[in-house]
Amino acid sequence: MRLVINGGTHDVPAAPHETLLGVLRGRLDLMGTKLVCGRGECGACTVHLDGEPAYSCITLAAACEGVAITTIEGVADGDELHPLQAAFIEHDALQCGMCTPGQIMAALALLTDDPDPSEETVTRWMSGN
Ligand code: FES
Repeated sequence: MRLVINGGTHDVPAAPHETLLGVLRGRLDLMGTKLVCGRGECGACTVHLDGEPAYSCITLAAACEGVAITTIEGVADGDELHPLQAAFIEHDALQCGMCTPGQIMAALALLTDDPDPSEETVTRWMSGN
C-alpha cells in the first residue's frame, strides 16, 4: 500500500489486516506514536488523518491510502518544536511521557479548529486521552 505520512510517500508491503499503528511502528520505525491499550480507549496512539484525530491502533492502514497522515514526528518544524510541544515542556505536562504524543496530537487538532477553547471544551475534548 502507499501511505502519505508527514508529507512523504511510503510504499509499504503491509497486509490488509495491519493497523496503522502497527505499520507506523513496526514497518516505518516511527516510534513516536505509542501503543498502550491497543483497543481505542486511551488515545496514546492518536495521529491525524486529513487533520482529524484518530486512534491508529484501531485504524486499518489500508483504509489510510489517499489520506494525509500526520504523526508526532511531523509536528515540529525541523529542529524547532511546535509551540504546543514547547508548552508541554514549559509546563511540565509530560507525566511519564508515554501518552504525551497522543495528547499533543489531540490538543493540536482542537487548537487548529478552535484556537481559544474554553476550559470545558478542553476537558471534554481531551477526555479521550
Ligand atoms: Fe490506546 Fe490506541 S493505544 S487508543
